[in-house]
Amino acid sequence: MSGFIPVNEPVLDGNEKKYLAQCIDSGWISSEGPFVRDLEVKFADRVGRKHGIAVCNGSAALDAAAAALRLGAGDEVIMPTFTIISCASALTRLGATPVLVDCDPATWNMDPSAIEARVTPRTRAIMVVHLYGLPVNMDPVLDIAKRHNLMIIEDAAEMIGQTYRGRPCGSFGDLSTFSFYPNKHITTGEGGMIVTDDDALAERCRSLRNLCFAPPRRFVHEELGWNFRMTNLQAAVGLAQLERLDEFVARKRHSFARYMELLADVDGIQLPVACTEFADNINWVFGVVLDDDVGFDAAGAMKRLTDLGVGTRPFFWPMHEQPVFRRMGLFADERHPHAERIARRGFYLPSGLALTEDQMTRVADAVRRILA
Ligand SMILES: Cc1ncc(COP(=O)(O)O)c(C=O)c1O
Repeated sequence: MSGFIPVNEPVLDGNEKKYLAQCIDSGWISSEGPFVRDLEVKFADRVGRKHGIAVCNGSAALDAAAAALRLGAGDEVIMPTFTIISCASALTRLGATPVLVDCDPATWNMDPSAIEARVTPRTRAIMVVHLYGLPVNMDPVLDIAKRHNLMIIEDAAEMIGQTYRGRPCGSFGDLSTFSFYPNKHITTGEGGMIVTDDDALAERCRSLRNLCFAPPRRFVHEELGWNFRMTNLQAAVGLAQLERLDEFVARKRHSFARYMELLADVDGIQLPVACTEFADNINWVFGVVLDDDVGFDAAGAMKRLTDLGVGTRPFFWPMHEQPVFRRMGLFADERHPHAERIARRGFYLPSGLALTEDQMTRVADAVRRILA
């Protein structure tokens, strides 16, 4: 077998076509169609929450969640510097201030021991982001939130099907969010979900998602929202995917274990942590970090692997090093050495659900070759 190995390929061979055909046959293609509600109910149930609010992507889910919590100017939210920009932009767009903590060099997740020192009288929330395959250690986060009366936004975009001490990721936030981009454990093409147990917050998220149309008079608005609606077509795909979530998680865990075996004897890279005391790695993506004595960085490694037919993606770039935030006067002179290092030396290997045994062997051989 040969050919370029893409970094991700989704698996869409369940009921996706059947449910999509139902949308087309019935004419229900907009967000008013019945699959949207069905997906909301079943997804919320799966993560043990009372309400699910489907939206058009995981970034929109964060925007709506932050707005639903009425965060704004003068409010501080503690969050990891090592994450996707959507987490911080959801705050800055409202005028709220992200307050950053560094990550743990082994798990790459936010370091809970760094949170408390950053609490001030203006802190209103902690934004927890579970990254790459392992959940954040939630017990200390929940304890700090309780003692300082802080809300929790939980970004579980990458953690569909993951648990923390047996409890689903996505069940910890006042509002928790997910993404259904095609590299996630289940996909809707583009899509996302907000979940919560709070009736009023759920209602507020529904309103914000739908331009804040409100009774008594449609097209008269008390507040500004967005069109963040998910279509029935997306939800149809999502339902078919959700039916197979356990199978997909098992597949991802299998490829994680296989990569760990294939790469165990390779010098020069740090492999992901397989398990912690509270979770086994769910392998959203299989990330690796180059040792300091390797003579090239992640960009160099990715270029070499591309030449050998292996697709890769770089790690996130820290929020405190984002030009857009620096220009806004944020994070001047901040240093977060672990995040800075893994951003420069970390990248991930092909990790999609369609990955074959042969492809994993070829990826591992290519990694061995570039580090030889
Ligand atoms: C942790 C995290 N949060 C949010 C998002 C944004 O999701 P989306 O791409 O659906 O907007 C992503 C996307 O990969 C993510 O990894």
